[in-house]
Amino acid sequence: MQAPAAGRSTYAAAVPVQLRPLAPSDAAELSALLVANREFLAASDPDRSEDYYTPAGQAQSLRAVAADHAARRRAAWGIVQNGALVGKVSVFDVERGPLQAARLGYWVSRHVNGRGIATAAVGLAVGEVFDLVGLHRLEAATLTTNVGSQRVLERNGFTAIGTAPSYLLVGGRWRDHVLWQLTEQDARG
Ligand SMILES: CC(C)(COP(=O)(O)OP(=O)(O)OC[C@H]1O[C@@H](n2cnc3c(N)ncnc32)[C@H](O)[C@@H]1OP(=O)(O)O)[C@@H](O)C(=O)NCCC(=O)NCCS
Repeated sequence: MQAPAAGRSTYAAAVPVQLRPLAPSDAAELSALLVANREFLAASDPDRSEDYYTPAGQAQSLRAVAADHAARRRAAWGIVQNGALVGKVSVFDVERGPLQAARLGYWVSRHVNGRGIATAAVGLAVGEVFDLVGLHRLEAATLTTNVGSQRVLERNGFTAIGTAPSYLLVGGRWRDHVLWQLTEQDARG
């Protein structure tokens, strides 16, 4: 994917990144990136099993993810720069019925932080996801202290809808998070 179908195309176009659906063949590259960023990601991620960091564990997870992506039940893209994976954007926990909502997650390898990659990648994902998965609303949650991630969401048109105390277990502690949303109408507007 080179350009978003909607969303914040200006920023995305200025930063040379692409998204591509992740496949089981990405497992070795992705797990190496996760191992290299283990400590960095642990500061904001829920705790992960040891399997999560292995090629075999990633291959197993990516098989399920790729099938769901193809069936438009969730989405997981690798963020690619100069042909190499530098991060991931995913849309998961899809709720149908009257909510039609899903959660957005993303990370970018620390060695390329601060170059606009997450902002561009989230813009590309937003441009695809409402059509791909068929959603009314995309949600995200950032640690109250994760200012960088909050900038990424703000720049992509997300609205902060409040602070949820004790929202997510990170590093063994229930941590407060700012909740964000982007409706389909916001994204297409
Ligand atoms: C958060 C994260 C995705 C940002 O990725 P990135 O590619 O560096 O993001 P961008 O370069 O697009 O934008 C980051 C912005 O936040 C700003 N920023 C980063 N840390 C900041 C801080 N501590 N205080 C203020 N601003 C900060 C950057 O300056 C930049 O803004 P600018 O372009 O206006 O200067 C990356 O750091 C990461 O993967 N962190 C760990 C996982 C994570 O937190 N994921 C999100 C979970 S909600």
